[in-house]
Amino acid sequence: MLTLNSPAKINLFLRVLRKREDGYHELASLFQTIDLCDKIHIELSTKDQFFCSDPSLPTDQTNLVIKALHLFRRKTGIEQPCNISLEKNIPQQAGLGGGSSNAATILWALNKLSGQPATDQQLSEWSSEIGSDIPFFLSTGTAYCTGRGENVRNLESLPHTELWIAKPPFGLSTPHVYRHLNPAALPQRHPEQILDSFFNLSPIYFNDLEEAAFALSPEMLALKQLFLAEGFPHVLMCGSGSCFFLIGNQNPPRLPKITFYRTRFINRSVFSWF
Ligand code: C5P
Repeated sequence: MLTLNSPAKINLFLRVLRKREDGYHELASLFQTIDLCDKIHIELSTKDQFFCSDPSLPTDQTNLVIKALHLFRRKTGIEQPCNISLEKNIPQQAGLGGGSSNAATILWALNKLSGQPATDQQLSEWSSEIGSDIPFFLSTGTAYCTGRGENVRNLESLPHTELWIAKPPFGLSTPHVYRHLNPAALPQRHPEQILDSFFNLSPIYFNDLEEAAFALSPEMLALKQLFLAEGFPHVLMCGSGSCFFLIGNQNPPRLPKITFYRTRFINRSVFSWF
């Protein structure tokens, strides 16, 4: 039996360069794993079983855990049944990549349980077939991602910053946010220069998806303004929302409808999981 953390991610910056002909958007983003984690228990068994602690999540072929299981079998030809149990802690429709992280964790676990027939690089390449964010979770936790998000450049760890995640009572749909975006109207920031800013200790945090999300949900803009007024120096939407991350030393305000999670950056070594 393997018990593994399946971490959430944030985007320290997210630049949307253009809409592509295949309907996806060309991105350049600095991704970072954080220690807000789901837990996955997995063991080889005599028949397939999948249990999820959150009854609102489907456990059929639409769940990325099942997609990852089938992907691994298709690519390796290894068909060993297994028993998977998923403890959900990462909020959904939150921009934290919970489902993508679960898929990456399953691929890494199945590979380990099967005697490592594939390299992490192969797992990463295969995983992009089932989701743009999954390859990132096979990095060591800090990575510059381009293309749809599936081209991953592994980077050295950043200083392990503490932060708050703020979760509003509603979620946002990723395709919906992208549909409301006009990439040509965005500030033309140069992604490689922004990337350097994080390693020169003068980080420039921004997320090109904020404006589209705020147009869809004025409550999101009001929340960002409220957190900034509380004195947090950096407040940024996570991925396509609806969570924010807040960097700063103070405690967050008491807001009855918002759930706050205290968390920090985490990384893994190439030899172990998170
Ligand atoms: O690849 P994934 O299934 O995670 O993408 C979900 C949706 O997010 C896509 O169907 C698309 O609407 C949007 N998306 C995008 N450009 C990206 C990544 C995602 O438009 N680079």
